[in-house]
Amino acid sequence: MIRNISVIGSGTMGNGIAHTFAQHGFQVSLIDISENALNQALITIGKNLDRQVSKGTLTPEEKEHTLKNITPYTAFEEGVAMADLVVEAATENTELKLRIFKDLDTFAPESAILASNTSSISITQIAAVTKRGDKVIGMHFMNPVPVMKLVEVIRGYATSDETTQLVMSISAQLQKTPVEVNDYPGFVANRILMPMINEAIYTLYEGVAGVQEIDTVMKLGMAHPMGPLQLADFIGLDVCLAILKVLHDGFGNPKYAPCPLLVNMVTAGRKGVKTGEGFYQYTAGSKDIVVSDKFKKS
Ligand code: CAA
Repeated sequence: MIRNISVIGSGTMGNGIAHTFAQHGFQVSLIDISENALNQALITIGKNLDRQVSKGTLTPEEKEHTLKNITPYTAFEEGVAMADLVVEAATENTELKLRIFKDLDTFAPESAILASNTSSISITQIAAVTKRGDKVIGMHFMNPVPVMKLVEVIRGYATSDETTQLVMSISAQLQKTPVEVNDYPGFVANRILMPMINEAIYTLYEGVAGVQEIDTVMKLGMAHPMGPLQLADFIGLDVCLAILKVLHDGFGNPKYAPCPLLVNMVTAGRKGVKTGEGFYQYTAGSKDIVVSDKFKKS
């Protein structure tokens, strides 16, 4: 039975994943090397739970239970010692993830399932550094995790049917809809989403329309909750660029080549909401837009 979940990384995705598991009664060990980041994550989880309480979707008692179900750890070994399932949500960096999975293979119980929330790194490559490839799988949550209903469940080359079924069933226990996909570049979500975002950036780069015009077309015309440029800012322009590079390298097809404007913006440190500036400008620490004139169509 899966009861103890260790979540590695307490950034936006990690704290959302910890929040969601804890809210559904799982015991969560939230692990980060930075004590400061852990404290910040607990504050964020508290605020997001308050939203749910004020909307009436959670009672104040359920909020308290959720918070009690989360224990923060800076000591990796201790934090994974009891895990039935580990969900890794560290920075999207291949070397770092490979190192973490090697350590997980050493320190997590032999029976533990090791999942990665990677948005594009190969599950097969991650599994290959462990001695339990059958128990390594992708569990790709969407941001904001407590709100979005999808879990993209990615089967690596060696992932067993048993592991896949368990992760599908745990995702359903979180009241999410799991979708099983195979391990090819970008999986399904980002193979389709990132070319759309890249095309929106090309449309801007070529002067076809301005930022607000492009986003308004997609919001009102296609009923997307956010336009593609706002969504790119929300995801992080550096993350979008990294995923496009995985698609470009993985398929060797020029259609995935990142738009030079995206490359320039990331190089200039303009990465979206997290840096306060992307295609839009933001008030500190919030996704609320202060519209930038810089990219208005001339
Ligand atoms: N925790 C809990 N609840 C939250 C939350 C959080 N972190 N963030 C938002 N909410 C809740 C709000 O309380 C609100 O609840 P009600 O519907 O009950 O009122 C609801 O979500 C909507 O939030 P807001 O009112 O703040 O704002 P909004 O209506 O503008 O919606 C949004 C915000 C949910 C982010 C919406 O704009 C949206 O769905 N955007 C698209 C998100 C998306 O596409 N995500 C996937 C990105 S791709 C990815 O993550 C994977 C990858 O690999 C790159």
